[in-house]
Amino acid sequence: MRWDPQQYARYADERGRPYRELLDRVGAAEGQSAIDVGCGPRGILELLAERVGPRGRVVGLEVDPVHVAMARELVAEQGLTNVEVIQADARLSAHCGVS
Ligand SMILES: C[S@@+](CC[C@H](N)C(=O)[O-])C[C@H]1O[C@@H](n2cnc3c(N)ncnc32)[C@H](O)[C@@H]1O
Repeated sequence: MRWDPQQYARYADERGRPYRELLDRVGAAEGQSAIDVGCGPRGILELLAERVGPRGRVVGLEVDPVHVAMARELVAEQGLTNVEVIQADARLSAHCGVS
Protein backbone atom coordinates (compact mmCIF):
# COMPACT_ATOMS: atom_id res chain seq x y z
CA MET A 1 0.00 0.00 0.00
CA ARG A 2 1.41 3.43 -0.92
CA TRP A 3 0.63 6.34 1.34
CA ASP A 4 0.17 9.76 -0.23
CA PRO A 5 3.11 11.79 1.14
CA GLN A 6 1.43 15.16 0.37
CA GLN A 7 -1.70 14.11 2.25
CA TYR A 8 0.35 13.08 5.32
CA ALA A 9 2.41 16.26 5.25
CA ARG A 10 -0.83 18.32 5.25
CA TYR A 11 -2.54 16.06 7.74
CA ALA A 12 0.24 16.56 10.32
CA ASP A 13 -0.94 20.12 11.17
CA GLU A 14 -4.44 19.00 12.09
CA ARG A 15 -3.08 16.51 14.57
CA GLY A 16 -0.77 18.79 16.51
CA ARG A 17 -3.06 19.16 19.54
CA PRO A 18 -4.06 15.52 20.06
CA TYR A 19 -0.42 14.46 19.68
CA ARG A 20 0.73 17.09 22.17
CA GLU A 21 -1.83 15.71 24.60
CA LEU A 22 -0.52 12.19 23.93
CA LEU A 23 3.07 13.30 24.59
CA ASP A 24 1.90 14.95 27.82
CA ARG A 25 0.21 11.75 28.90
CA VAL A 26 3.25 9.55 28.15
CA GLY A 27 5.48 12.08 29.88
CA ALA A 28 7.73 12.80 26.90
CA ALA A 29 10.30 15.25 28.25
CA GLU A 30 13.60 17.09 27.79
CA GLY A 31 16.61 14.85 27.27
CA GLN A 32 14.71 11.68 26.41
CA SER A 33 15.06 9.48 23.29
CA ALA A 34 12.04 8.82 21.10
CA ILE A 35 11.28 6.87 17.93
CA ASP A 36 8.49 7.55 15.42
CA VAL A 37 7.98 4.20 13.68
CA GLY A 38 6.44 4.69 10.23
CA CYS A 39 7.05 8.44 10.51
CA GLY A 40 6.07 9.07 6.90
CA PRO A 41 7.08 12.42 5.36
CA ARG A 42 6.58 14.26 8.64
CA GLY A 43 4.65 12.33 11.34
CA ILE A 44 5.34 13.92 14.74
CA LEU A 45 9.08 14.43 14.26
CA GLU A 46 8.81 18.18 14.90
CA LEU A 47 6.69 17.71 18.03
CA LEU A 48 9.09 15.09 19.42
CA ALA A 49 12.14 17.24 18.56
CA GLU A 50 10.60 20.19 20.40
CA ARG A 51 9.63 18.05 23.38
CA VAL A 52 12.96 16.20 23.95
CA GLY A 53 14.99 19.32 23.21
CA PRO A 54 18.68 19.62 22.25
CA ARG A 55 19.80 17.11 24.90
CA GLY A 56 17.26 14.55 23.59
CA ARG A 57 17.23 12.40 20.48
CA VAL A 58 14.52 11.50 17.95
CA VAL A 59 14.68 8.75 15.33
CA GLY A 60 12.16 8.57 12.51
CA LEU A 61 12.01 5.06 11.09
CA GLU A 62 10.40 4.76 7.67
CA VAL A 63 10.43 2.13 4.93
CA ASP A 64 9.29 4.24 1.95
CA PRO A 65 12.21 6.03 0.24
CA VAL A 66 9.98 8.90 -0.94
CA HIS A 67 8.79 9.54 2.60
CA VAL A 68 12.34 9.23 3.95
CA ALA A 69 13.56 11.85 1.48
CA MET A 70 10.71 14.22 2.41
CA ALA A 71 11.25 13.70 6.15
CA ARG A 72 15.00 14.32 5.81
CA GLU A 73 14.26 17.49 3.83
CA LEU A 74 11.91 18.69 6.55
CA VAL A 75 14.53 17.95 9.24
CA ALA A 76 17.20 19.86 7.29
CA GLU A 77 14.89 22.79 6.46
CA GLN A 78 13.86 23.18 10.09
CA GLY A 79 17.36 22.57 11.48
CA LEU A 80 16.14 19.73 13.71
CA THR A 81 19.63 18.69 14.81
CA ASN A 82 18.28 16.19 17.36
CA VAL A 83 16.36 14.22 14.68
CA GLU A 84 17.66 11.39 12.48
CA VAL A 85 15.56 9.66 9.80
CA ILE A 86 16.45 6.03 9.11
CA GLN A 87 15.19 4.10 6.12
CA ALA A 88 14.30 0.64 7.42
CA ASP A 89 11.51 -1.88 7.63
CA ALA A 90 10.25 -1.88 11.23
CA ARG A 91 9.35 -5.55 10.89
CA LEU A 92 13.00 -6.37 10.32
CA SER A 93 14.70 -3.73 12.43
CA ALA A 94 16.08 -5.03 15.69
CA HIS A 95 18.29 -1.97 16.07
CA CYS A 96 17.96 1.81 15.42
CA GLY A 97 20.46 2.66 18.11
CA VAL A 98 17.74 4.07 20.39
CA SER A 99 18.44 2.89 23.97
C1 LIG B 1 -0.50 5.82 7.91
S1 LIG B 1 1.09 6.39 7.35
C2 LIG B 1 1.41 7.44 8.79
C3 LIG B 1 2.54 8.38 8.56
C4 LIG B 1 2.88 9.23 9.80
N1 LIG B 1 3.14 8.40 10.96
C5 LIG B 1 1.76 10.17 10.08
O1 LIG B 1 1.09 9.96 11.09
O2 LIG B 1 1.62 11.13 9.32
C6 LIG B 1 2.05 4.95 7.71
C7 LIG B 1 3.52 5.09 7.37
O3 LIG B 1 4.18 3.88 7.81
C8 LIG B 1 5.12 3.47 6.82
N2 LIG B 1 5.33 2.03 6.99
C9 LIG B 1 4.45 1.05 6.70
N3 LIG B 1 4.99 -0.16 7.00
C10 LIG B 1 6.23 0.08 7.51
C11 LIG B 1 7.29 -0.76 8.02
N4 LIG B 1 7.17 -2.08 8.04
N5 LIG B 1 8.41 -0.19 8.45
C12 LIG B 1 8.57 1.15 8.42
N6 LIG B 1 7.61 2.03 7.95
C13 LIG B 1 6.46 1.48 7.51
C14 LIG B 1 4.45 3.84 5.51
O4 LIG B 1 5.43 3.96 4.48
C15 LIG B 1 3.80 5.20 5.88
O5 LIG B 1 4.72 6.26 5.68
